[in-house]
Amino acid sequence: MTSEKIQRVGVIGAGQMGAGIAEVCARAHVDVLVCEPSRELAAAGRARILRSLDRGVSSGKITDREREQAAWRLRFTSDLGDFADRQLVVEAVTEDEKVKTAVFAELDSVVTDPRAVLASNTSSIPIMKLAMATENASRVVGMHFFNPVPVLPLVELVTTLTTSAEVGARAEHFAHEVLGKEVVRSADRSGFIANALLVPYLLSAIRMVESGFATVEDVDKTISLGLAHPMGPLKLSDLIGLDTVKAIADSMYEEFKEPLYSAPPLLLRMVEAGRMGKKSGHGFYQYSENGASAQ
Ligand code: 3HC
Repeated sequence: MTSEKIQRVGVIGAGQMGAGIAEVCARAHVDVLVCEPSRELAAAGRARILRSLDRGVSSGKITDREREQAAWRLRFTSDLGDFADRQLVVEAVTEDEKVKTAVFAELDSVVTDPRAVLASNTSSIPIMKLAMATENASRVVGMHFFNPVPVLPLVELVTTLTTSAEVGARAEHFAHEVLGKEVVRSADRSGFIANALLVPYLLSAIRMVESGFATVEDVDKTISLGLAHPMGPLKLSDLIGLDTVKAIADSMYEEFKEPLYSAPPLLLRMVEAGRMGKKSGHGFYQYSENGASAQ
């Protein structure tokens, strides 16, 4: 069933998630075509991947030769029409349902193989909404990676009421056997497993700061030193991107109407102010070449 090897992958979007997904595919010896709408965004995406590959070399995870070979396997295009021959495509554009459904409608008309896997890396949008934008909903799944993608070994696989068993099996085989990720399966519910648990925690930490209960630094210190998490919830929100945290919370709130999923005003104000976290240089912390400092 999964016999035809996936060797040609497409990734749509080369932001932090798309770049990471493209990198791990290239490192797994797969031909990767990345779609970004402009030369500038493509150049920024390529630079992001090369910086991460360099980091892989300097931390001893990959050799110089593996870095070079991975870089050769990555090509960029601004035309989704070039994805006709792809066997698996991972969409990693902004967490916006309208943008993602438009991408899936176009992708569906472009990718010719009826057994191809059309995957979304969405954090929270029910996959059925994306599948219904296509003519062949049996090809659509969720493949949710974690940031930083080269470091975190998990993929949440989400199949829908309409995904074919073969497409689900091909996606699982690729994530596990080719990329070497552990795979968990989640029902098609907004937030899947990880964000259903993570987002109320992140929003609770933001509410704690908003109400003056504790400072940003003390909340993070408590969680990293007291509970041995690799980072506290405010630094993690900055890493994910505050606009993305808000978008995930909004989708989850729309689905469940659960007050714990409702984005607190401080998060809304920070997003309105353009403080998106690490990627914009400013969130709950300020970021410079020398690392993070309290704002
Ligand atoms: N390629 C390969 N390996 C890399 C690498 C790269 N580009 N970058 C770093 N690494 C390796 C390092 O070599 C190191 O390996 P080692 O432990 O074997 O020595 C390891 O990754 C950790 O890297 P660093 O030592 O440089 O950095 P830190 O120890 O400070 O860890 C971190 C940084 C990995 C970001 C860690 O703080 C962490 O795991 N934080 C939590 C991240 C998290 O929770 N992510 C999930 C977010 S939620 C999400 O993505 C879902 C979405 O829907 C919201």
